[in-house]
Amino acid sequence: MKDPGLFPAPSAELLDGLAGMQRTLREVFPLKTKHRAALPGGIRRLSDYLTVDRENLPRDYMTRPEFLVAYLHYYLPWNIYRQGRLLTGLDLALKPGSQIVDLGAGPLTFLQALWLSRPGMREQELDYLAVDRSESALKVGRKLFDSLASEAPWKISTDNQPAGRKKFRPADLLVMANFINEVDRGPRGGRGSRSADGGGDASVTQMLERWEGQVANDGAILLIEPGVRDSGRSLSRIRQTALERGWRVPAPCPHAEDCPMPGRRNTPWCHFTFPTGDSPAWLSRLSHQAKLPKDRASLSFLLMVRGENPPVRIRPPKSPGKGCSVVRVVSEGFDLPNGKLGRYGCSDHGLVLLENRRGGPSPVPGDQVTIKWPDSTRRDPKSGALAILLSEGRDRR
Ligand SMILES: C[S@@+](CC[C@H](N)C(=O)[O-])C[C@H]1O[C@@H](n2cnc3c(N)ncnc32)[C@H](O)[C@@H]1O
Repeated sequence: MKDPGLFPAPSAELLDGLAGMQRTLREVFPLKTKHRAALPGGIRRLSDYLTVDRENLPRDYMTRPEFLVAYLHYYLPWNIYRQGRLLTGLDLALKPGSQIVDLGAGPLTFLQALWLSRPGMREQELDYLAVDRSESALKVGRKLFDSLASEAPWKISTDNQPAGRKKFRPADLLVMANFINEVDRGPRGGRGSRSADGGGDASVTQMLERWEGQVANDGAILLIEPGVRDSGRSLSRIRQTALERGWRVPAPCPHAEDCPMPGRRNTPWCHFTFPTGDSPAWLSRLSHQAKLPKDRASLSFLLMVRGENPPVRIRPPKSPGKGCSVVRVVSEGFDLPNGKLGRYGCSDHGLVLLENRRGGPSPVPGDQVTIKWPDSTRRDPKSGALAILLSEGRDRR
């Protein structure tokens, strides 16, 4: 069977849910005509704050109507799209009654992505706790979810607190989506002076210690961040410390060696990109109006697990065999000077440049391929990656 990769095509449920979201937003969060007209400009301003002007991002932006409405119409659906794609590719083995805790949940983005992308889980019992310091975001998220899934048997609770303030039943799955980038900075942009759950010093070890106290022994932590260098770098640092503390990191990493894409200085950073041609028309239109068109969506993520039966897994690759390795394809294809197509990938031997002839195998970001190491290795002069020629039709799985 062909491996569906980390980002299989979105399900009809996910696409239908996103297509209907504009109507739901209108019902749950009605806007006066003048506010509707101001929406593209608001999205643009919020985008500037969240990207190039992060140090001036108002701490309470999710409670300010102008920014909340911009978030709901642009970031929420795009994040549902991204998170839904990832959730389709992960192997979720949450037992009935499992507890998901979502720190910095905002308008319950992850919950909506889970509902839309995993219809097979809709009948099962699940406890979901959303923690966020913005009560407005939690409230509107609750209304959106209720309108999406009025019959859901899932037990949904919200906690309007800074993360880390209150104890809760250890999570089977602790989720943080677009959260680390928000708190991994000082009050005025200096890095490292606030922890990812809101208080105290922010060393990665301390962050992990705190999370370890919030996760069940057979548990998982899923971090999902934007596909930008800063986020890739943070996740690479967290991965290294997590491995040292005994966590396994089954995705996206196909090995437990040093990260060959740490994003430091000029090194590449680990992130995945996929085309968005199937996203709903209303969202593409609004994105264009906001001058933020999105032909491609990208993300970085990290799945950390511990114990014998973690609730999130990846479909295991076949054992690669002697002299072979599993490579996670990270980049999209690009032209090489020798006329072939190249793709960067991650392996236990470091960064790999997968080369293939046009018309040959064409793995996409998130796929796994098994390669056989040749007797003598070449290196890509540009990146220093080990160059491997993909053999026709045999390597992808
Ligand atoms: C960029 S939004 C992400 C929302 C959602 N997880 C998503 O992926 O769309 C970040 C959220 O984190 C919340 N937040 C930031 N720092 C927080 C903290 N220390 N404790 C709780 N929530 C926090 C903000 O209020 C905001 O709702």
